[in-house]
Amino acid sequence: MTPHEMASTHAAAFTQSRPWSTSEFASLLVNPFAYYVGDSNCFALVQVIAGEAELLTIATHPSMQRQGLALNIMRHWHEQAVAMKASRAFLDVAADNMAAIKLYQRCEYYQCGLRKDYYAREFGPKIDALVMERSLP
Ligand SMILES: CC(C)(COP(=O)(O)OP(=O)(O)OC[C@H]1O[C@@H](n2cnc3c(N)ncnc32)[C@H](O)[C@@H]1OP(=O)(O)O)[C@@H](O)C(=O)NCCC(=O)NCCS
Repeated sequence: MTPHEMASTHAAAFTQSRPWSTSEFASLLVNPFAYYVGDSNCFALVQVIAGEAELLTIATHPSMQRQGLALNIMRHWHEQAVAMKASRAFLDVAADNMAAIKLYQRCEYYQCGLRKDYYAREFGPKIDALVMERSLP
């Protein structure tokens, strides 16, 4: 995927928070610890450092949601993280993002922390972030 394709899917999917720009994706893609899996229908961007994998973002284009794509992409990036010697995976998610929280729970993540007022919203108060983790594989 190109940074532009990522930004385009991200902008379509992220309606509650600021989507990432093409240049933000471009700089993440040159990070030697980062990789992505997926395509313009659904992709995840991940970073593995010192045995820990962090999900940086995941997005499914709205026209392709609820078809199991994100579930599949989660499996794929977990496999790749294990191949890169990660034994633990973590992520953070807005406390009001029920679709993503349910997805992560299905993928065996549990809440291990809370960041108060972590996400800014265009309108309304800031939203807490749940920190979630699981062991790999
Ligand atoms: C979260 C997101 C990636 C899920 O993508 P998806 O491809 O639609 O997810 P899947 O079809 O693989 O769903 C897998 C499971 O997740 C849960 N889920 C996904 N979307 C859901 C929704 N809108 N409401 C409730 N549960 C949902 C369900 O358990 C679902 O299984 P089911 O369809 O058998 O009930 C997608 O909604 C999205 O791009 N959202 C905007 C971006 C975002 O919030 N990213 C995460 C930031 S932390």
